[in-house]
Amino acid sequence: MAIAPITPSQYELVENLFMTSAPRPLIAGNWKMNSTRSGAVELATGLVDQTVAQGPLPCELLVCPPAHLLLPVLDVVKGTNVALGGQDCHAEPKGAHTGDVSAEMLMDVGCSFVIVGHSERRTNHEETDGMVCEKAMAAHRAGLIPIICVGETETQRDAGEALQTVGRQIADSLPDGVGSSNTVVAYEPVWAIGTGRTPTSQEIADVHAAMRNQLVARFGSDSDGLRLLYGGSVNPGNAEEIMSIDNVDGGLIGGASLKVETFWPIVQAFA
Ligand code: PGA
Repeated sequence: MAIAPITPSQYELVENLFMTSAPRPLIAGNWKMNSTRSGAVELATGLVDQTVAQGPLPCELLVCPPAHLLLPVLDVVKGTNVALGGQDCHAEPKGAHTGDVSAEMLMDVGCSFVIVGHSERRTNHEETDGMVCEKAMAAHRAGLIPIICVGETETQRDAGEALQTVGRQIADSLPDGVGSSNTVVAYEPVWAIGTGRTPTSQEIADVHAAMRNQLVARFGSDSDGLRLLYGGSVNPGNAEEIMSIDNVDGGLIGGASLKVETFWPIVQAFA
């Protein structure tokens, strides 16, 4: 019996099946050490107002305020489409660690994500890949999704060592047990953070493809759906181009996340 050729509508069906398995993009705002209580409430309220006006969002939305502003921001975002995250956590659940916050504490105040291994932590607090790995394990233990940051310095890029550097950081900063639903990875070239400079689309595509291959080789095909964010000088003018690059599943946004007028157009880049 002859087999009927596949029809265009069947192609569409197959394509849609693949599309539904694609990861839901994540746009995360990293407020760093910025804002006041009133400023944070105003910013969070502005974002929630936009999400209500928009209806279903083209991506998942997250804000990461400084630790002391988590509760006032939670009051605003609770029950909305905006999730809450911490900017760092200690590896231990509790104890004599003055000034630190544990993953369990972040969970307790309503966070669902935590950034770990941001280059500012790696530089200012001399955090190593091993320490970042322990923090990611702490996040998993507490039920938080770690956003594990990696990225080369300008010297490393100029020396042609960008892929090698990121590869080593991925190997040593990611704990066992990583999967698409419990971990996010952010590629943030150190020289692009807060500088207004970004890699070319090809350079971002090359790093993200290498990260994807490395993840699939270590964690299996489930990590096909693990979200890989790009971060570093993303703004309303470049967001659409960056977000359209293969294997870029969202962004980690610093400066532009501090105002609704600059953060919202980045969210819209997925629409
Ligand atoms: P930026 O920061 O968007 O201000 O460059 C990004 C980040 O550090 O996460």
